[in-house]
Amino acid sequence: MLKIVIITMFGIYLSASDISSSLVEQQINESFITKFEYGKMLYNNPRGISCAKCHGSNGKGMIISTFKHKTKEFIYTCKIETKDITKISFEKFSAKLEQDNLAMEKIKFQKHQVCEKMIYGNTMPKYFLTKNEQDSIYYYITHVKEQQ
Ligand code: HEC
Repeated sequence: MLKIVIITMFGIYLSASDISSSLVEQQINESFITKFEYGKMLYNNPRGISCAKCHGSNGKGMIISTFKHKTKEFIYTCKIETKDITKISFEKFSAKLEQDNLAMEKIKFQKHQVCEKMIYGNTMPKYFLTKNEQDSIYYYITHVKEQQ
């Protein structure tokens, strides 16, 4: 008899903890969707021109345009393109968005990298996004493929 009571109690305990853990999971999922959706919205429609226009719909990069640049000796065909921004650290991501020259990594261009030097830092607009907004966009682009 006691055995049955214990087993029953154990059963109740198990199902109760199952329910509560599934509730927690649901809550995590809901906040995941919220943050993901919020990041998606900001990525496509920040205060300013859409990131997706220059970085592609999921941040994997794209060719934006090409132009010709003439110097005395040469004519360069320059390609304005973006690289994958889904694999960089949040620090690097945030520094770029704030155009924080001290936090941004200094790139030394070679003499022949005429196009790269012109494009770097001169194409991407400045944004005024809070850390929380930056974090949501970062979250979106680093999780977007899991949703597709
Ligand atoms: C008008 C085009 C344009 C728009 C709009 C734009 N970017 Fe960029 N972005 C670029 C270009 C071009 C580069 C590469 C050259 C450079 O770093 O200046 C770049 C670089 C970056 C980098 C640095 C990548 C690295 O590896 O260092 C990040 C991060 C970034 N963009 C995020 C964003 C986010 C987030 C948005 C929207 C809030 C956005 N960009 C909007 C053109 C754009």
